[in-house]
Amino acid sequence: MRSYPLTVLKFGSSVLRSEADLPAAVHEIYRWVRNGHRVIAVVSAIGNSTEELLARAHAFGQGVSEHAVATLLATGESTSAALLSLALDRAGIPGVILDEVRLGLRTRGPVLNSEPCGIDVSAVERALETLSVVVVPGFVGRQDDGTVSLLGRGGTDLTAVFVAHQLGADCCRLIKDVDGIFEYDPASSERQPRRYRILTWADADRLSGGIVQSKAIHLAERNNFAFEVAALNSDQPSLICGQPAEFYEQQPDSKPLRVGLLGAGTVGLGVYRYLAAHPERFHITGIGVRHRERADGTPRELLTLNPWEVVDSDCELVVEVIGGLWPAKELIEAALKAGKHVITANKLVISHWGHELRALAARNGVQLLYSGAVGGAAPMLEQVRRIAETRGIRALSGVVNGTTNFILDRLADGMPRDEALREAQRLGFAELDPTTDLDGSDAAHKLALLAHVACGGGLHPNQIERTGIEHFDAEAVHEAARAGLSVRLLATLANGSDGVRACVGPQFVDRDHVFAQTRNEENCLEIHTQTGEVVYVRGKGAGRWPTAEAVMADVFDVCRSARTEVAEDYLTAGRVL
Ligand code: HSE
Repeated sequence: MRSYPLTVLKFGSSVLRSEADLPAAVHEIYRWVRNGHRVIAVVSAIGNSTEELLARAHAFGQGVSEHAVATLLATGESTSAALLSLALDRAGIPGVILDEVRLGLRTRGPVLNSEPCGIDVSAVERALETLSVVVVPGFVGRQDDGTVSLLGRGGTDLTAVFVAHQLGADCCRLIKDVDGIFEYDPASSERQPRRYRILTWADADRLSGGIVQSKAIHLAERNNFAFEVAALNSDQPSLICGQPAEFYEQQPDSKPLRVGLLGAGTVGLGVYRYLAAHPERFHITGIGVRHRERADGTPRELLTLNPWEVVDSDCELVVEVIGGLWPAKELIEAALKAGKHVITANKLVISHWGHELRALAARNGVQLLYSGAVGGAAPMLEQVRRIAETRGIRALSGVVNGTTNFILDRLADGMPRDEALREAQRLGFAELDPTTDLDGSDAAHKLALLAHVACGGGLHPNQIERTGIEHFDAEAVHEAARAGLSVRLLATLANGSDGVRACVGPQFVDRDHVFAQTRNEENCLEIHTQTGEVVYVRGKGAGRWPTAEAVMADVFDVCRSARTEVAEDYLTAGRVL
């Protein structure tokens, strides 16, 4: 029995047109990860690379070795698996590549158009015990003699459906550049065709016009296996299964969401780049900055030194990533009062004023989301909330400050403390005022937010006992490392019958302990449920891309809730209140 829901997502060349599309795939994967799923991401070669590789093979004429052709074409998928894995790593999402050998994907039949016949299920399960994502190059398998084989044109669909079926996945979604399957080709008529909510395998085969590989559809039908087809970031998949057809009643609203951005520093610039990559989805109304002279690609006409102009602009959503208590708190307050959704990564503001601001958001019928405030790309608030609602939380313990973790690792290597801190600042992990990292207050702010979600009520950061690492003897860290111990700044919370107790402080942990394995800016939370299980949440907890990933996940939640008929469920699932 798996303790997590498993989703297989397939990204084809129509979605991965170039490397610039990889972050969008990462956003999609992270959306599922933060909803508590483990994900198997099956990828096709990027853009036209399969055609290009095929042309290179054909340059040697007809009748050449099919094994050599298959091996050459397979490099397209292995390249895109490696690139997606790099993009996931940059975003701070823990994953691993299982190529066709490690996945044990065996095939039979013609080398270039073979049938899959088995995978090593336990290899996948082992990988997913500790990691959130497994990346699989689609289209490619191995014959019994170990030679490379291909699953035919469009074979990545077949890999995804086969792997999902073999693993008994909870969901298998083929992500396409169209949002599901239509009753006829939208380009062939003036009238807008209806989009299927549900359709049969036979209809999918007839109607998908090659969008879904026939072999994949037939394999699903033979095994009575349901799978979905949808666009990126969609809540309206077409489910292909054995049930009678149903249609969606309305098209989702595709108007871009108008976003005002406060801050274009470490995190803000990451968020800007992500938003700007999707002009069809996001219209940026203004960017509040400290300096207008910049050489980072932010358009001058959007920049303003006056953050109030951004709040007052024609935006539906304000993203606050300037940090600090003032004026961030007033800006958030003003935006909520003006009926705008707010997304922030500001743990300082939320840990001090969360109660008032949540009430203000509720009164104005808007959302206040702050996933990026805790754990970066480790979805700690979401996981703690889910467990609190289902199994209850007995205790929490973890590394929630990337800067101090990074510094402690450098001290263990013998680097002087000042140099380690400068390095953490250079890499964009530290706060504007790094004393709040070192003295444990950043960790205390995050623990206060976790406590609110875990136990309800409010725990003010001042109620958290706190010792930092600013006076911790650097030589002692180095000595401990030689003795097989690591020093970690741990945030802990006990939710007992006598109430909630919370503290932050340095502790020695054994080299094999999961917290000792939490390296550099990584964060890790150990959650003890009331039902006796222990659940871990891991990911990079500081820096531009992990924090921007969490902010974007909130942005996509707002985006979906603004435009679809079924958004309420997702909204509730993604909301942190
Ligand atoms: N300064 C924080 C840290 C940034 O190092 O964890 C992420 O909240």
